[in-house]
Amino acid sequence: MNPAENQQRSDVLFGEGRNGTFVLAHLSDPHLSSLGAVRLGDPLNKRLFGYLSWQRRRRHIHQPHILEALVCDMLAMAPDHIAVTGDLTQVGLPDEFRQAAVWLGQLGTPERVTVIPGNHDTYVAAPWQDTFQAWAPYLAGDGGPDNNDPYPSLRVRGQLALIGLSSGRPSAPLLAVGSLGKRQLTRLEELLLQTRRRGLLRVVLIHHPPVPGSIAWRKRLTDARQFAGVIARQGAELILHGHAHYSMVRELAAGMQKVPVIGVPSASSADLTLQRAARYHLYCFERGDNGWRVQIIARAYSAVEKRFMVVHQQEFQLPVFDR
Ligand SMILES: [Fe+2]
Repeated sequence: MNPAENQQRSDVLFGEGRNGTFVLAHLSDPHLSSLGAVRLGDPLNKRLFGYLSWQRRRRHIHQPHILEALVCDMLAMAPDHIAVTGDLTQVGLPDEFRQAAVWLGQLGTPERVTVIPGNHDTYVAAPWQDTFQAWAPYLAGDGGPDNNDPYPSLRVRGQLALIGLSSGRPSAPLLAVGSLGKRQLTRLEELLLQTRRRGLLRVVLIHHPPVPGSIAWRKRLTDARQFAGVIARQGAELILHGHAHYSMVRELAAGMQKVPVIGVPSASSADLTLQRAARYHLYCFERGDNGWRVQIIARAYSAVEKRFMVVHQQEFQLPVFDR
């Protein structure tokens, strides 16, 4: 990357103003694992359709060298924390989980990196110990790994409450739907209330875009309306997601407040269009007299420059809720 630009951005983010601020990096859908070792004769069962899709199309869309450039660029920004909102794998094979665990180690320690699952990571129902166990420290809430009922997870970092949800679940061929389920929604509501009373800045992480009607029916969150109901009652300061593989900015209502809902494209995308090019976001949170202000910096891959560059930068006030 261009050292001068890097230095300039570093000054904006981490100069005098860094005191009292917290920088969260958000990326999603890296689809980083290779299925190159899989043979058609292997017992793929329900994963066969996904494997063929990877062979024909997806391995050309998701490029390791672009993901490598993203990680390099992002780590140079020295964020305080990194959130990865799912779909690290292609079809959720145990070997893919091992590949992704190595990659997570390059991002940082579990203390500084939070991961939630996507639908490709839950392509079929598979034993925890063969799959998510490899990522357990990155998935766990502050109470430690809980492989029986881990979601929602809660991690408190400074004045941030990172609330991780799991919307990934196996679905029929040609569908990529997700759902949270009643139990997770009930616990989410409790958690949002508790963390609001503690005065924390609540960032909700979810793989599927949660605004009803915001994505194609076959990729939707089936209980998006119930999720919107929880947010309407308890609020949240910010909701981050992936899954769509294009840049999305929406909002959900919570009383008189509007909660920003922001999605990033795939972190390894070779697409050349601005809305779908590989991208990550930096959120620089700062406490003001009237609640939280945030500066969002979007850095996307330029195929011409062969590096990540700022494509959008904006400051805004996050919604304010009574304790
Ligand atoms: Fe997805």
